[in-house]
Amino acid sequence: RTVYVNGQYLPEAEASLSIFDRAVLFADAVYEVAAVIDGALVDYPAHQQRLARSLKELGIPLPVDPDALLDIHHELLRKNALTEGLIYLQVSRGCADRNFLMPHKATPSLVLFTQAMPLLDTVAATNGLRVISRPDMRWGRRDIKTTQLLFASMMKTEAVAAGVDDVWLHEQGMVTEASSSNAHIINDAGVLVTRPLSNEILHGITRAAVLDYAAESGMQVEQRTFSLEEAKTAREAFITSATAFVTPVVEIDGVAIGTGRPGPATQRLRELYILRSR
Ligand code: PDD
Repeated sequence: RTVYVNGQYLPEAEASLSIFDRAVLFADAVYEVAAVIDGALVDYPAHQQRLARSLKELGIPLPVDPDALLDIHHELLRKNALTEGLIYLQVSRGCADRNFLMPHKATPSLVLFTQAMPLLDTVAATNGLRVISRPDMRWGRRDIKTTQLLFASMMKTEAVAAGVDDVWLHEQGMVTEASSSNAHIINDAGVLVTRPLSNEILHGITRAAVLDYAAESGMQVEQRTFSLEEAKTAREAFITSATAFVTPVVEIDGVAIGTGRPGPATQRLRELYILRSR
């Protein structure tokens, strides 16, 4: 694989970041994951807008101009002949002696790599996911897409160790997100219910697109908090992310959702999302 680090395209074995990079010492870095289908980037402008917002919240400048950044994406896809998978981008504040005080003048580090993987035809899309619930103990600025992902990683690992696929996190019983995706339900009236945007969840690019497509297709959408109990009695449940697209959730804490099989509305939203993304 060829990766990109600070102006250079390198074989992955030759690419490195300093141990003094603040990404390593403080997770002082933001990232984006965008899907690639048929060799093309999905929802690129929205990912770049969110990147700009994350960077602004942390006061990290984007080290290259937006046109150059798009060129880097295209060049990396070309060099790796990527047709289906993801492209990962990370901007960290850069290197400085270890100090909790953020350095004024660091040179940001920019890293990109690709990962080939099937996104369109997956077992999860066909069979749906089984999840368990856990209290959301992440920090309070989940709207900033930082590389501080340890709690999410712990919960994903715990879920797999428990024999299921993922977690749905909650605060006082109200669902926030899954470990690396947004969580949604469809109730008995056919209404898509999803938690409203705030600092408590990542402002998912896929979430935004799916809400638009759902509304366009005549589906009613309600942005409000919903409880785990409501989710367990919902007709359908699903997650959204750049790499999962729309993926059904068929079980929460051992309770089957609806029929316990991927529901028709979720499948329709997945098809619609894929259709509009390619
Ligand atoms: N995760 N919530 C969390 C906590 C996430 O990590 C993600 C994405 C999402 C969905 O956002 P989007 O639709 O913009 O991908 C929601 C990416 C895919 C990851 O970390 O791999």
